[in-house]
Amino acid sequence: MKTFLISLGVICTIFLGCHTENEPETARQPHVKADNPVEAGRYLVTVGMCNDCHTEGYMAVEGNIPEDDWLTGSKVGWRGPWGTTYPVNLRLRAQELTEEQWVEQLRTRKVKPPMPWMNVNKMNEQDARAIYAYLRAMGPKGERMPIALAPNQEPTTPYLNMVPLNLPPMAEGGASN
Ligand code: HEC
Repeated sequence: MKTFLISLGVICTIFLGCHTENEPETARQPHVKADNPVEAGRYLVTVGMCNDCHTEGYMAVEGNIPEDDWLTGSKVGWRGPWGTTYPVNLRLRAQELTEEQWVEQLRTRKVKPPMPWMNVNKMNEQDARAIYAYLRAMGPKGERMPIALAPNQEPTTPYLNMVPLNLPPMAEGGASN
């Protein structure tokens, strides 16, 4: 009788997808729900706010930028105590890197502000792969962005002035790594 019930449980789980008490915990854990990795990547770059910086003008027009232009970088610099940085063209970057290099970069690289590397480094591997799949599916577009300038270099491009004013020392940020 016991064997019969166990077999019934196995058949139910394997063939019918029934939920049983033995269902592994991981099956119930939250994860990105999408039809395929490209769609998951599209979702992740949107809610992960990558467009806010890596798509020029995105925030100013409340995200109303044709998807075809997404993540092509921004020539508007972010100038602060770290110098002036430019959000790289991710559509080109994904062409230059293998999937493994991309995952490695996203999960380990510490770059200058305002790139939120401390958050992006925590992205799980599958999500990093999904973003790569999305960028590759979108294909290369645009040009390379200017290289970062040192604090004493005057930008010739438009830039946002991120100089901290009147902030307590801890909030000044501007880690000059
Ligand atoms: C607040 C603005 C901002 C947001 C949000 C942002 N980035 Fe960036 N990102 C930057 C800037 C600026 C740089 C260039 C940093 C530098 O020159 O050191 C950069 C650099 C990068 C690089 C290049 C790293 C390297 O090793 O050269 C990658 C890859 C990247 N971002 C991916 C992403 C992804 C993926 C997201 C969304 C999950 C994202 N970024 C969100 C501003 C941002």
